Amino acid sequence: MIISVLNQKGGVGKTTLSINIAAQLSLNGKRTLLLDADPQGSSLDWAAARDEESLFTVVGLPRATLHKEIRKFAEDYEHIIIDGPPRVTELARSAIMAADMVIIPVQPSPYDVWAAQEVIALINEAKIYKENIKSVFVVNRKIANTAIGRDVCDALATYSTDVLHSTVTQRVIFAESAAAGKAVFELEPHSSAAKEISALVDEILELPS
Ligand SMILES: Nc1ncnc2c1ncn2[C@@H]1O[C@H](COP(=O)(O)OP(=O)(O)OP(=O)(O)O)[C@@H](O)[C@H]1O
Ligand SMILES: [Mg+2]
Repeated sequence: MIISVLNQKGGVGKTTLSINIAAQLSLNGKRTLLLDADPQGSSLDWAAARDEESLFTVVGLPRATLHKEIRKFAEDYEHIIIDGPPRVTELARSAIMAADMVIIPVQPSPYDVWAAQEVIALINEAKIYKENIKSVFVVNRKIANTAIGRDVCDALATYSTDVLHSTVTQRVIFAESAAAGKAVFELEPHSSAAKEISALVDEILELPS
């Protein structure tokens, strides 16, 4: 499956989720590729910060021809995760056209709910050419023990796009592990963060096609 992690808004967790989803799929024994479609190259930076053997291959491909070029990788990998760029519309368009599924991270904030309009519009545009692209929201940086996560789900209901039941909580381990070029499960395999990522990946894989 080709999964694009996209949101035109910056800093919502595209790279954090891309890396940890790719890591979890690799842990599950799947041949996984992470394509960095962001000119900032954050996923490549993450891979460069790593001392250990890589869990999965990371390739930089911040080009608007991504949806065509991806074909040459598709045969070699069971799953390809595309870490999308913020703002750059042509790259986001290409990442949507490349994908079977688009995962849209949103933080529990009204600004994120409003900003999601932009990526949803791009997906709707792409559906004219590619009818069966799936898209889902995932709430990231949820604050534990608050109602705000629930509020954001209610607010997102105005879009005709489902919100995953799995959420990812705001936790410092996400930044700590990234600094070392690691996935959260490598730092703390039994952590709540690792369990949330594992549950998120299970839910994604079980979504009806
Ligand atoms: N669940 C989380 N808990 C704590 N920190 C998080 C979480 N998710 C992301 N972050 C932090 O938020 C910041 C932005 O995350 P990230 O770089 O993944 O976002 P992005 O959407 O890829 O940003 P950009 O749009 O610039 O590519 C990073 O410092 C990251 O460590
Ligand atoms: Mg990023």
